[in-house]
Amino acid sequence: MSGLASMFSPRSIAVIGASRNPRKIGYELVSNILAGGYEGKLYPVNPEGAEVMGLKSYVSVKAIPGEVDLAVIAVPAVHVPEVLEECGQKGVRAALVISSGFREVGNLELEKRIAEIAKKYGIRMLGPNIFGLYYAPSKMNATFGLSRVFPGKIAFITQSGALGIAMMGWTNLYRIGVSAVVSMGNKADVEEADMLDYFSEDQHTKAVLMYIEGAKDGRRLLDSMSRTSLRKPVIVIKSGKTDAGASAASSHTGSLAGSDRVYDAAFKQSGALRASDLAQAFDWAKLMTMQPPPANDDCLIITNGGGVGVMAADACEESGIRIRPLPEDLQAGFKKLMPVFGNSKNPVDLTGQAYEESYAKSVDLALRDQRVGSVIVLYCQTAITDPVSIAKSIAETCESQGCEKTLVTSFVGGAQCNEAMQKLDELGIPSYPIPERAVSAVAAFYRWQRYKAKKGI
Ligand code: COA
Repeated sequence: MSGLASMFSPRSIAVIGASRNPRKIGYELVSNILAGGYEGKLYPVNPEGAEVMGLKSYVSVKAIPGEVDLAVIAVPAVHVPEVLEECGQKGVRAALVISSGFREVGNLELEKRIAEIAKKYGIRMLGPNIFGLYYAPSKMNATFGLSRVFPGKIAFITQSGALGIAMMGWTNLYRIGVSAVVSMGNKADVEEADMLDYFSEDQHTKAVLMYIEGAKDGRRLLDSMSRTSLRKPVIVIKSGKTDAGASAASSHTGSLAGSDRVYDAAFKQSGALRASDLAQAFDWAKLMTMQPPPANDDCLIITNGGGVGVMAADACEESGIRIRPLPEDLQAGFKKLMPVFGNSKNPVDLTGQAYEESYAKSVDLALRDQRVGSVIVLYCQTAITDPVSIAKSIAETCESQGCEKTLVTSFVGGAQCNEAMQKLDELGIPSYPIPERAVSAVAAFYRWQRYKAKKGI
């Protein structure tokens, strides 16, 4: 197995610095690996050699009888070099160095030393100064973040540990599934580019989301982004846009934030989709992991409210999504599904009297027609209709059709709309509480399609 394969799919893990004290990180790491359901061998390493959470522990990694693919190291920084040496002698292929106390506090020498040891033995090392690594396909939660993570298809790479841990919580709260959460830390060996290359090939990942403050090797990162963007969407949040942010980034991770305009242009050139904030990044990733890309440039809006239809049409035009009046024959089809005072042009306004049947039939018509490339379905809560039933009817239609083009929804209203949107998300149809968020996600999907088309894909 290669170093990164051993990191993501280890057959055995040693936690060095495993502790019986629940207030220590070395305890939490073992506890999370067990709670996550990891199915390989787990060896706690502790100088006392006492049992840790019912598992036999070993006084050193070298005392472990079997092979070790991955070492998770959580001992004070000064002890990391000797521990890593032992890992090398043991034949360990990959290491997650959780410990802080290196470059981020000016201890460059110590960081250089561990990088050299890792290189000498061919160990791929993530960190130091990380909260760990979560990888859903291996059921491996080798982090001291939350124990429950909602599995899915987004790989999240983060330069901020705290943000990564918070995101693990979001996955459960908003049911946005992740295939991986990677804490980058000081990047003494493995960098974002290595991770992108890995996820580019990873069949369990459909989109990559990155939070970065600065790049060590900008050229390499952009090359890797360009390659990955040809295969799956790469969504980037790059902070340190302003002078205040850049100075904060410099003291946080020692990153040189660089000119924001230069980054912006470079991301565009490499096909990466730059999101302005976390909520937007997850909105986009949610759509791109749940739905196929648009089948062509023409987007169709279906609504029961004129106002939200107009707002969505505005947002579409502003973000480069084409909204054209529908061909006559398609309009005639929609007219049969709405009262005489409806509007069949685009947005198609089914009016406030649109019940589940007219939504189901309209979505069916839109999904079947080859001239429609993507569909945005809007619903405004009315007293005479039931949002949950409408949501179900949309999902059923999509399922029976096979849904080969982008379909998103926005349900605007109270608690029942929330319930309807949860149902839709569960059934694989992304939903958003305001139309502009749905439009923004579809626009990002189109930008990605255009990048690929420009590259001949
Ligand atoms: N081999 C094996 N175990 C060792 C060891 C070694 N060479 N040296 C120490 N240990 C054991 C200790 O005995 C202890 O176990 P115990 O509780 O049974 O006594 C355990 O490892 C932890 O060592 P301890 O000295 O108690 O340190 P700690 O738990 O207070 O802190 C770190 C260790 C790594 C967590 C801490 O130094 C650190 O870096 N914290 C910051 C981590 C972080 O924030 N990372 C970035 C997130 S974004």
